[in-house]
Amino acid sequence: MAELIVALDVQTKEEAVEKIKAIGDGVGFYKIGLELFTAEGPDVVKAVKDLGKKVFLDLKFHDIPRTVERAVKSGAKLGVDLMTIHSVGAKAMIRAAADAAAEFGPTGPKILAVTVLTSLDQSDLADVGISGRTPADQVAAMARFAIDNGANGLVCSPMEVGSLSKSLAAGTLFITPGVRPKGASVGDQKRIATPADAVKDGATHLVVGRPILAADDPVLAAKNILDEMNGAI
Ligand code: C5P
Repeated sequence: MAELIVALDVQTKEEAVEKIKAIGDGVGFYKIGLELFTAEGPDVVKAVKDLGKKVFLDLKFHDIPRTVERAVKSGAKLGVDLMTIHSVGAKAMIRAAADAAAEFGPTGPKILAVTVLTSLDQSDLADVGISGRTPADQVAAMARFAIDNGANGLVCSPMEVGSLSKSLAAGTLFITPGVRPKGASVGDQKRIATPADAVKDGATHLVVGRPILAADDPVLAAKNILDEMNGAI
């Protein structure tokens, strides 16, 4: 069954804890990204874990293999459940991350690869030396590359998850942001899918921020999304 991850796009640990308490028992998984982690550090991870929740630490590591290996181990020691790396870090870096996580056994973190940031278009790719491939081709190639080199899954847009989930091995994790229930404000998201469509296309985890965090009734907003996810199967 697909899991709902709420993006803790807030600036302080106190706000994060307040949001988690307001959302309540319905949601068991939270994403901590660069903004919150840079402000609050490991303490915010500990605070979320102390509330009995799982943590997706989205710091998108891209460095030499040894540094990434050690950073993954630091995350694992904090009890993080999902972590991200950039697939352009290449084979040895992806392997180092996967091997470091595997040392912590089945309860250790799973490593997710970012293929092509959704903010990049064809000309951005050409600027950094990737020419002759569309962004979609580059996503497909980097997805296979990352999984073949030990990543457990991918962060992908709702537009990509259908084709990727068909072409990669069963058991691969697909984490999909850009999800909006029918009638929800789209905000700055451009390519969106409903929770039901994302799950039908093969997403294993949906990342949702504002439709829950900014809702008048976050408990109800989360419940509606979960009902839609469960109804899709
Ligand atoms: O508020 P919203 O539901 O748009 O939040 C989605 C979360 O997923 C945010 O934390 C955002 O940074 C993240 N994300 C995204 N699109 C991507 C990658 C990550 O929206 N391509």
